Amino acid sequence: MRKPIIAGNWKMNMTPSQGVQLVEELKPLVADATCDVVVCVPATHLHAVGQAVKGSNIKLGAQNVHFAKSGAYTGEISCDMLKELGVEYVIIGHSERRQYFGETDQTVNKRTLAALENGLTPIVCVGESLEERESNKTEEVLLRQITEGLKGVENIPDLVIAYEPIWAIGTGVTATKEQANETIGYIRSVIAKTFCPKCAAKVRIQYGGSMKPSNASELMGMEEIDGGLIGGASLKAVDFSQIVKY
Ligand code: PGA
Repeated sequence: MRKPIIAGNWKMNMTPSQGVQLVEELKPLVADATCDVVVCVPATHLHAVGQAVKGSNIKLGAQNVHFAKSGAYTGEISCDMLKELGVEYVIIGHSERRQYFGETDQTVNKRTLAALENGLTPIVCVGESLEERESNKTEEVLLRQITEGLKGVENIPDLVIAYEPIWAIGTGVTATKEQANETIGYIRSVIAKTFCPKCAAKVRIQYGGSMKPSNASELMGMEEIDGGLIGGASLKAVDFSQIVKY
C-alpha cells in the first residue's frame, strides 16, 4: 500500500557536470525500478541535473528550502525557485543542518509547512544521537522532533519522514534491521496518536544511515521501512542502482 521511495542525498559532493555524468549513468540502471527514485542534489546542480533526468523515472530533489516567499535572506533558496527548476522533493532538517547550521524543530516546521503549501514533497529527517540512544532518550527525542517539526501539517502522507540515527550516518555503522524497524514503528505510533491512525498507515518512512547494497534488501524487507535516504552510496551509480533494486 505504501510505495517505497529510495532517495540519494548527495550532500556537498561533486560539481554540476560530475552530477550530470552520474545521473546519465544511473538512468538506464534504474529505468525499471518499481519504487520512487529521487536524487537530492546541491542547489548549484539542480538546473543541469534537472535537464538530465527529464523524461526518466528519476525525480529531482533539493537539500533545503527557505520558508519565505522572497526577500532579504542572503544565501537562501525559496520554494518558487526550486519549483521552476523542476524540483519535486526537498530534504528538511537533516541532522547535519541541525548540528552545523542551527536548524531547530521550529525552523524545520516552518520549512515543512512552506514546502507543502507550494506543492513540494518534504523529506523530513529525524533521529537521535548516540548519547541519546545510550541514555534511553530515543523516543523522547523523536516524539519532540515529530510533534514540533510537523505541527500544523494537514495531511501527513503528503510528506516523507526519514529516520536517520545520527550514529549511523556516514559511520559505516548501520542500525540493525530490527532496531530500524522498531524505531520507525514508534514514529508511526506517534503519528497515529498526534495526527491520525489512517495517516500513520499511509505515510512513508525511510531509514537512513550507512544504507548500502549489502544491507538494503534486509532493511527494505522490514514491515515498517518504506525506503531509504542514501548518502555515501548514492554517489556511485552502480551502488545506488543496486539499492534501488534491493
Ligand atoms: P550515509 O548518509 O548513507 O552516508 O550514512 C545518509 C544521510 O545522511 O542521509
